[in-house]
Amino acid sequence: MGRSKMIIGISCLLASLTLNSGCQIQDKNTDKNKNTEIRVGVLLYNMDDLFISVMTQKLDEGFREQEKKEDFKITVNFSDAKGSQTLQNSQIDKFIDQDYDVLCVDIVDRTDAAEIVDKGERADVPIVFFNREPVSADMKRWDKTYYVGTDSEEGGRQQGELFLEEYKKDKESIDRNGDGIIQYVILEGEPGHQDSMIRTESCLKTLKSAGIQLERLGTACANWTRTQGKEKMEGWLQGFGDTIEILFSNNDAMALGALDAMEENDIPFGQIKVIGLDGMEEAVTAIQEGKMLGTVLNDADAQVKSIIEIAISLGKKETPTDIDYMDSHHTVRVPHRIIK
Ligand code: BGC
Repeated sequence: MGRSKMIIGISCLLASLTLNSGCQIQDKNTDKNKNTEIRVGVLLYNMDDLFISVMTQKLDEGFREQEKKEDFKITVNFSDAKGSQTLQNSQIDKFIDQDYDVLCVDIVDRTDAAEIVDKGERADVPIVFFNREPVSADMKRWDKTYYVGTDSEEGGRQQGELFLEEYKKDKESIDRNGDGIIQYVILEGEPGHQDSMIRTESCLKTLKSAGIQLERLGTACANWTRTQGKEKMEGWLQGFGDTIEILFSNNDAMALGALDAMEENDIPFGQIKVIGLDGMEEAVTAIQEGKMLGTVLNDADAQVKSIIEIAISLGKKETPTDIDYMDSHHTVRVPHRIIK
């Protein structure tokens, strides 16, 4: 790829992330070597979300890598719904009007997929949902819908298992007051998100099934964000101080926010144990530095690989086959892994 085309490509991505511009037409006409093109629209629920910003970067890199292996051009355009389903619906209309071949959708409101599926079906534009799982009745409306995500139950369970492994090794450092009961707080993502409700439930269930006695000091929704995670933890530190023995967090961003609160309140790192989920780079560093007990990998690389494979195959008007972990309902659930 020539330098000028690379610059067009990069500025195109940057412009499209904020403005959803139509740069792809310029791109298309400057590429003489590839005679056909697949156009992919990627719709993000909110680009400010840490995990989603990582997925976006990986999707962009992944589609570019894939293009090198194919004898056609792959045009990818990203749009940010900034948390608004209404805005996302209009972005979908735009992509469909511009003859996009396939849409990858991180839906804002996972209970509201019917309209998107119907739009796709009317225009015969297949849809690969990811990260935020539509309800199954909506998925069943049309056979050209797919979902790529994880098994939320497994994610929460592995958080619980991580706790149990550490607890068996060193009870005293977790149950610091020695009362045989674990005083905990829990940061939840977003009401209604499958990864919030189910992760919380299965994490606590794993502990209870192992006979651990629990005392909940606090639970709060921090909408997946570091800022709100910090705010909630600050409130708990005011109320309970370091009598909190462990913080479970539905994701790493909120866990990192809780660490920020501890730092500001002079609570030594490692005293209150912290378990997150996602495997974000900063969380892995925090684990290595002893600030967090561990996290669970929400494997963005594997999810991105499946999204790209499915999208390209649908873009070629083929039926996706041989996709890792895909079941007969067009659902891919990438496995989690404990990191500590
Ligand atoms: C991730 C969170 C992210 C959320 C967004 C979850 O699967 O673990 O970090 O904020 O998806 O939908």
